[in-house]
Amino acid sequence: MIDFRSDTVTKPTAGMKAAMMDAELGDDVFQDDPTTNALQDWAASQLGFEAALFASSGTQTNLLAMMSHCQRGDEVILGQDWHTYRWEGGGAAVLGSIQPQPLTVQADGSLLLADIAAAIKPDDPHFARTRLVVVENTIAGKVLSPEYMASVAQLARQHQLACHIDGARLMNAATRLATEREQDVWQMARQLCQGYDSVSLCLSKGLGAPVGSLLLGSKDVIKRARRLRKMLGGGMRQTGLLAAAGHYALQHQVLRLGDDHKHCQQLAGGMQQLAERYACWQGMLRLQPVQTNILFCDMAPALAGALLPYLKQQGILLSGSNYSHNGTEWHRLRWVCHLDIQAADIARTLELLENFSRLQPS
Ligand SMILES: Cc1ncc(COP(=O)(O)O)c(C=O)c1O
Repeated sequence: MIDFRSDTVTKPTAGMKAAMMDAELGDDVFQDDPTTNALQDWAASQLGFEAALFASSGTQTNLLAMMSHCQRGDEVILGQDWHTYRWEGGGAAVLGSIQPQPLTVQADGSLLLADIAAAIKPDDPHFARTRLVVVENTIAGKVLSPEYMASVAQLARQHQLACHIDGARLMNAATRLATEREQDVWQMARQLCQGYDSVSLCLSKGLGAPVGSLLLGSKDVIKRARRLRKMLGGGMRQTGLLAAAGHYALQHQVLRLGDDHKHCQQLAGGMQQLAERYACWQGMLRLQPVQTNILFCDMAPALAGALLPYLKQQGILLSGSNYSHNGTEWHRLRWVCHLDIQAADIARTLELLENFSRLQPS
């Protein structure tokens, strides 16, 4: 099976499983688990923070961040399409009584600084108190530059707001930028985080661990987050088993993220060629530029309706959904490349796409 649905579908590698089996364990609620402590300390120092906290998921570390920075009735500024606004069950509002102020996300994945500034409420009892700005990087596979990240942090600072990065795929952003600028990937990751009060970093996406996410911040932020994690039922005991996988991922599976980006480019390039060669695709396929490990492509719903079952039958899984733009219906497919997809899988997928193209009436 070739599973493009998400980079969360990866299985632990043999090296990762060995690290998990060898992990020294303790009770993490007592802060006694040496493997979890080692992961937290190492990650904090790699990304330039004082402290870190291991939690079950990215949704939880984002929630812990929002609840650590905001009190009930405070407001968080975020993007209309941010995971923290759209895909986390409204947890900040439900569990933290935090009011979201969503803003339009630009085509490059950024929020306009002018929009952020305009959304910050004056100190007036009519308004919720604006307390936090969240930025997501990567956002739908797109990379926000360190210069942009710094400008948001500076704006937040000017207005005495906290700022948080949903860095579920921060290392993908750092990988892309480090390659472009011929820099070290960890140095780039630190640069992206500079000036931010907290970052949520998923271990179980492109990095390939089975479970877990880290929240990084000051000692104070992490202390608040630890209390909230317990309150939310997220305190776990012998977490070293999982932390060992996360630590292994950070130490051994960051440098290979560039392979996923390359595979995604190859997939997009191959699909572009098919679109040029086969009449069935003319005007029916729109490929978005690839920056990291995610390719979005829009196709006519009728073609998608034929393609998806065909690929599924051949063992290829991907996700997608319909949307309408200027009165035209499209089906948007999401192809995510990851640790368990090799160059041969990309070649096989392109071969099947070509076979499918040949079968379509021209
Ligand atoms: C950008 C982003 N943030 C946060 C999350 C949440 O991660 P989790 O699924 O571990 O809760 C995801 C999950 O896909 C994500 O894509």
